[in-house]
Amino acid sequence: MSSGSGTIVRGGRVIDETGTRRADVAIGDDGQIVAVGPDLDGTGATTLDASGCVVTPGFVDLHTHLREPGREEAETVESGSRAAALGGYAAVVAMPNTEPPIDCAAVVRQVLDAGAAAGLCDVRSSGAVTAGRKGEALAPYGEMAALGVRIFTDDGNGVQDEGLMRRAMEYGRTMNAVMAQHCEIDSLASGGHMNEGAWSSKLGIPGIPAEAEELMVARDIALAKLTGATVHLQHLSTAGSVDLVRTAKAAGVRCTAEATTHHFTLTDECCASYSPLFKVNPPLRIDSDVAAIKAGLADGTIDAIATDHAPHTQEVKELPFDEAPPGMLGLETALALALTELGDLSLEQIVGLLTWRPAAIAGLSDMHGGPVAEGRAANLCVFDPETAWTVDPARSASRSRNNPYAGRKLKGKVRHTILFGTPTVIDGEAQR
Ligand code: DOR
Repeated sequence: MSSGSGTIVRGGRVIDETGTRRADVAIGDDGQIVAVGPDLDGTGATTLDASGCVVTPGFVDLHTHLREPGREEAETVESGSRAAALGGYAAVVAMPNTEPPIDCAAVVRQVLDAGAAAGLCDVRSSGAVTAGRKGEALAPYGEMAALGVRIFTDDGNGVQDEGLMRRAMEYGRTMNAVMAQHCEIDSLASGGHMNEGAWSSKLGIPGIPAEAEELMVARDIALAKLTGATVHLQHLSTAGSVDLVRTAKAAGVRCTAEATTHHFTLTDECCASYSPLFKVNPPLRIDSDVAAIKAGLADGTIDAIATDHAPHTQEVKELPFDEAPPGMLGLETALALALTELGDLSLEQIVGLLTWRPAAIAGLSDMHGGPVAEGRAANLCVFDPETAWTVDPARSASRSRNNPYAGRKLKGKVRHTILFGTPTVIDGEAQR
């Protein structure tokens, strides 16, 4: 190829769903990949060095809290997009528990416009399942779907009423939507602040039993079977949930699932510090749950690694454990946590969990998730899988600092991120 312009990603190992090969990637000025192969002629092109690195599709996060509108002191679409780009993400799905909630076209448009203005990540919006996320009446899916919303969820809460959830699935099915669920039975979880078990007893903190999650996972699998809708089960945290999804998939139920990085790297023992940094919903569970999540990621039961990036200001995260809101940052540590902690998985599996598999769930496969091939949109991540680094929350691009991994040594670092042909991150530095 003789390109007089554009960008060339030089000297990396490309991994996508078609396999692994050594190749350069040439990107045209129109943001599309124009060639993939060894030793491309990059005369005149801007070179991004990828030696020693892996070149993959840009990551896709199914579960990001961007806090805009309403809680811009914790995060904005722009600051969250910057954190996403630094984490290797080319696309994120914004969760609807904003103020006001994302439950109609006007708020969807606001989020999408803010994402486009920031230009650091392809910000997609989820839409609420119920009006106001109140769990009482269905939200207007049609007007949100018309703006490209594909994932509907009341995330932050589960939809409690079975009949309403059935109708939501029936309605969603007519527009090929994915009904996603924060699985938690309120009457079992309310008043709880951490996993119910030995540590909650020892610490005197009221617990949330695994059953609060598992009963809703089981219910929604049953409703997906009943309605023929596709259900996506968010942030699974227990061994029982993983088993339920495994069995449902084997029986042909249309369900997918995600696990967060914190649910395969931390346990409820962390709460012994009484630090609200470890308060999250669903709560951190026990060793056997962590092992089951890892096994679910390894055998394909769990389709995607999600961040549940949930920024909160220092002011509220410094409240006592029982008063602080749940949630932790995740966008900038996801890749490294996966590479460091998922030793039983191949690099190809980890890349799949971060790219083509979530892209397929979000309905974004036409432009995200790969393959890295001529004619495709150049949404790419270049990372060094071996670089060792220590997490320093002060260096985050997020407006918030609620990172539970301070001081943790990880391996694997994003070097460049490319969004529709334009580098958003070069050599670990955000470009805007
Ligand atoms: O820990 C959590 N934080 N879990 C949720 O479901 C909501 C999220 C938030 O919005 O802070």
